[in-house]
Amino acid sequence: MSPRAELPPRPGRILISEEELRARVSALGEAIARDYEKLNPILVGVLQGAFLFMADLVRAIPINLTTDFIGLSSYAAGTTSSGVVRLVSDLSLPIDGRDVLIVEDIVDTGHTLEYLKRNLEARRPRSLRVCVLLDKIERRESEIDVDYIGFTIPNVYVVGYGFDYGGLYRNLRHVAALETS
Ligand code: PRP
Repeated sequence: MSPRAELPPRPGRILISEEELRARVSALGEAIARDYEKLNPILVGVLQGAFLFMADLVRAIPINLTTDFIGLSSYAAGTTSSGVVRLVSDLSLPIDGRDVLIVEDIVDTGHTLEYLKRNLEARRPRSLRVCVLLDKIERRESEIDVDYIGFTIPNVYVVGYGFDYGGLYRNLRHVAALETS
């Protein structure tokens, strides 16, 4: 066996550079600002993965807005979705009558967003939309309407800019493909 085969999974080729992320997040912010001007929307970041995207996105939206977070988990330690979504921590604010924008890092099978949209709709927001950084469309199992999309990506496991493998690599400034061999 060659020594390479023993390397652990790690960040590989860059899929989306820091500059590409900055430009796209800025454009998303401008579009959201136009659509939500004077509405004081609540942006709901989905933990943990969306924390970096959320932080950059809100700074690209030059209107009054409110932030909150919800913690969900569907992946265990590995690289495939369990399909079972768990609410790990709830919102701190009521959202009834408010314009709510979910800020999510990735839509893959769609199970997480399907669960979250159903959960938040039950709280009677005035409107509920979704902004995702990455859309892995070929993996979709649930029909989900996504209103703002950063990038559509192929079916590769990604790390960096909030995306982890076993808790690692969220702090990279770019999005990379996980290298496993
Ligand atoms: C990831 C990601 C999305 C979800 C998308 O979360 O952040 O929330 O999976 O997958 P789906 O469309 O197949 O449901 P994960 O459970 O890895 O938690 P994390 O955000 O804390 O990394």
